[in-house]
Amino acid sequence: MKEIKILFVLILLTGAMYYGIEPYAHHIFNPVVKPADFKFSDLFPADSSPAAVDMERGRLIQLVNEANPEEGRDIVQNFGCQACHTIKSAQMFPYGLGSLEAEEKALIEANGLLPPDLSNAASLYDEVYLIDFMKNPPTPSFTTSHRRHQQELLAEGLATGGDSQKLNTTFTKAVEGFDSKIGSNYVKMNSFAWLTEEQLASVVSFLRTLATPVEKLTPKEVTINACVRCHSIDYDHVPLAAMPKELEKYLGTVPPDLSMMIRSKGEGYLNTFINDPQKHLLGTNMPRVGLTAASQAKVVAYLNQVGDPKADERNSLGLYFVIYFLVLAVLAFAWKHNEFKEIGK
Ligand code: HEC
Ligand code: HEC
Repeated sequence: MKEIKILFVLILLTGAMYYGIEPYAHHIFNPVVKPADFKFSDLFPADSSPAAVDMERGRLIQLVNEANPEEGRDIVQNFGCQACHTIKSAQMFPYGLGSLEAEEKALIEANGLLPPDLSNAASLYDEVYLIDFMKNPPTPSFTTSHRRHQQELLAEGLATGGDSQKLNTTFTKAVEGFDSKIGSNYVKMNSFAWLTEEQLASVVSFLRTLATPVEKLTPKEVTINACVRCHSIDYDHVPLAAMPKELEKYLGTVPPDLSMMIRSKGEGYLNTFINDPQKHLLGTNMPRVGLTAASQAKVVAYLNQVGDPKADERNSLGLYFVIYFLVLAVLAFAWKHNEFKEIGK
């Protein structure tokens, strides 16, 4: 039974490739990182236990629950947000130009990129993240997560017996260097640190009154709000909502088109990357935008839809392929048996 032996060798080789070499290579190219953290724990002091994080998040959500949305409306209208953001559902526009296209064009010219419409900000973005973001945009977008990952690298280095003095110096330099790069004006949105926490909560509470639940938004709508001020999605004819030259000045690069990201990076990578880019590209200029788990799932679904529209069809064909090859194997075996009989073994 030579065939069985050959089959066995084939299975062994394929198994070694599939379960051994491929995952090993993948793990070298894409080091394993912790799962996405939709509580944004790094916004809280490093020694906070998960329970302490929950408590602080609960306190902030409670502030939003108790806040007066009308006070929030007043702040949005008169003290800032409406100067740079459209809020379609509240009929708030920065310039009063009469059409959304004209407003967006003017916003891109003023900011270099289109600040997202805020109609659904309270359902797309994590509310606790939003409060922190308004206080000082670069902090939750970049700084805290960068610092946390540096801390983890330091702890890892110490635990594996590294030279503590050297590691500590590297850590201090990396954190100081990053913090000075990410000055308070690093993100084009200005800081609202002069508002009290209660006032910031009232802004979120006003945005809540406008927001459509994320389940009712299409994956495309979510992605446009969260990503296209920096990324085009050519395959679905979604242009970049920015001036490329200005974007390059701002971010040091024109960010890549997202059409094929689902294939080049894979869903697992995107899930952790979007939630916290510093995890994969320490020091990167891509901000964490603060999406909730549900909105991030919509973004990934959209990237799947654009980059791999035939995935379901392809997967459903798999079974037929297996059946086809089984039938072919039986026929080949019968044919060989027949031929060899004629040769006389
Ligand atoms: C000076 C103009 C300006 C003002 C005023 C402003 N924003 Fe922004 N906002 C921006 C720009 C520009 C971006 C995009 C920044 C980027 O992606 O780097 C942005 C991004 C955002 C985002 C996206 C979230 C994220 O993580 O990137 C939200 C939400 C937001 N702003 C809410 C607000 C709210 C609420 C206010 C009022 C309290 C406000 N903004 C006031 C310019 C502004
Ligand atoms: C404020 C601008 C900005 C926003 C908003 C933004 N990105 Fe990016 N993105 C960047 C920049 C800059 C890079 C290049 C990063 C680098 O090479 O360090 C990047 C790179 C990427 C990459 C490539 C990562 C890699 O490993 O090379 C992916 C994927 C990505 N972004 C997805 C997204 C998605 C999805 C969204 C919306 C949820 C988004 N980005 C929103 C600026 C942005």
